[in-house]
Amino acid sequence: MRPPMRPPMRPPILAANWKMHHGPTAARAFIAELLARHTPRADRTIVLFPPALSLHAAAEARADRTDIRLGVQNIHWESKGAFTGETSAGMARDAGAELALVGHSERRHVFGETDEETSRKCTAAHAAGLVPMLCVGERLGEREAGETEAVVLRQLRAGLTSLEAGARRSVMIAYEPVWAIGTGKTATPDDAAAVHAVIRQELQVLAPEGGSEVPILYGGSVNPGNAAALLAAPEVGGLLVGGASLEVAGWLAIAST
Ligand code: 13P
Repeated sequence: MRPPMRPPMRPPILAANWKMHHGPTAARAFIAELLARHTPRADRTIVLFPPALSLHAAAEARADRTDIRLGVQNIHWESKGAFTGETSAGMARDAGAELALVGHSERRHVFGETDEETSRKCTAAHAAGLVPMLCVGERLGEREAGETEAVVLRQLRAGLTSLEAGARRSVMIAYEPVWAIGTGKTATPDDAAAVHAVIRQELQVLAPEGGSEVPILYGGSVNPGNAAALLAAPEVGGLLVGGASLEVAGWLAIAST
């Protein structure tokens, strides 16, 4: 069976979340190899999310290859102040970031980030000129209890609530079911499509102008073997990849899908 046609207007977004891997030296080496092996392509957008400490090195290594976009994995909602260990959106932008992950499941479930905090972070990212990529996704127990839709909608509404309607069109969403992250268990393309459809419908309510264009990425145990099928699913506008993005060869196999 042929996969459904992708609307022609928007190239898929292939995003690598390195999590706590690749300090400045490794980030430089990764990007040097990536640039040597990957020529710019207009039919996709590549984004790397290095650790905050590696952002500046990544931006320097990328040099004029702005087809490789950079993002920060987490920000604080304040622009400056006595918040030891934190990174503001403005600092991340200064170091080369154009996007900010907000509400990644590890932030929510390992570090206790609340819906209210994701809201403040989305607003701070937008105010600093970063594109917030709001991550949403249910835990295994929530899926088994039939609560997937309710959880995802709650996180989506909460994350975007403080953004004005006009700003909500300038975000990206990543659907990452928590049970599929780092576990090798991938949502099927149908599983992903079902939740992406719910997200799309709600985005059209939250952002009547532009909500239908907001990219919705899928993340959770994406690898070179399943990337094409996931990317072909309806409403899957890109992939957010963890473990399989850490080596250049594997990452390029996905990014060239
Ligand atoms: P894995 O690809 O390692 O499952 O991680 C997904 C993820 O959390 C990306 O943000």
